[in-house]
Amino acid sequence: MTVTMGSQPNPAGGTVTARGRARITDRTLRTDRWWLAPLVTFLGLTTFVIYGMVRAFMNDYYWVPAYHYLAPFYSPCLSDACVPGSSHFGTPFPDLTPLITPPLFVLPFVLGFRLTCYYYRKAYYRAFWLSPPACAVAEPHQRYTGETRFPLIVQNSHRYFFYSAIPVASVLTYDAVIAFHGDGGGIGVGLGTVVLVINAVLIWSYTLSCHSCRHIMGGRLNHFSRHPVRYWMWTQISKLNARHMQLAWASLISVGLADFYVALVASGAITDPRLFN
Ligand code: FES
Repeated sequence: MTVTMGSQPNPAGGTVTARGRARITDRTLRTDRWWLAPLVTFLGLTTFVIYGMVRAFMNDYYWVPAYHYLAPFYSPCLSDACVPGSSHFGTPFPDLTPLITPPLFVLPFVLGFRLTCYYYRKAYYRAFWLSPPACAVAEPHQRYTGETRFPLIVQNSHRYFFYSAIPVASVLTYDAVIAFHGDGGGIGVGLGTVVLVINAVLIWSYTLSCHSCRHIMGGRLNHFSRHPVRYWMWTQISKLNARHMQLAWASLISVGLADFYVALVASGAITDPRLFN
């Protein structure tokens, strides 16, 4: 390993080679398994994206009429292509399948919220762009322009995606409530009901733990004492916010598993275990 103090100009405007930075020939001096976290992130997000694409274009097995289970990836179902009974909020969009399946009408909002999330940004910048792959590990790129110009300046729209996430979480809550439906009518509870309720709780927890939500609640206040309600809400959101990374993963896994579970029941691959009715 060679360490010298860099003094030459850096026309590329790079980061680790910038003027004044210690010039270290090794990529990193870290000896721990720094590559594990980005690798796990890469595998986790890649698995989710592949599953999501397969499900989005499957265009089937998303509604269980007997128990009123609607798969989260198809909720809300807003196109004329939706199977009867699955559209709880009307069908404002025409049937454009197979090119545009029902999930694709909602996907820009759901995806936009996750893609611009402060945590996910860190996660996929590290795991996919290696920019940088971990703390104190040199990135392979020569230039870094940050989020100050197109396309990454779009990341600043996160607050608006947060607003769109509220109706999405509300719809998933609605789905969980109507899943208390028994075969043949009345109230019933099955494993699918429990799965959808847990999913709604985790989606709300992730949404409310958002940094933008925390700022909307308690930001720009000079005196908390004059805004006791907002202060209380900011305090609660701050507790959730401290777990934002965990909630990001928990809600991502839960939405995938809930969708998969409903798909299995809807396709007849498994029978929903019923607690009653
Ligand atoms: S910062 Fe992650 S959802 Fe807003």
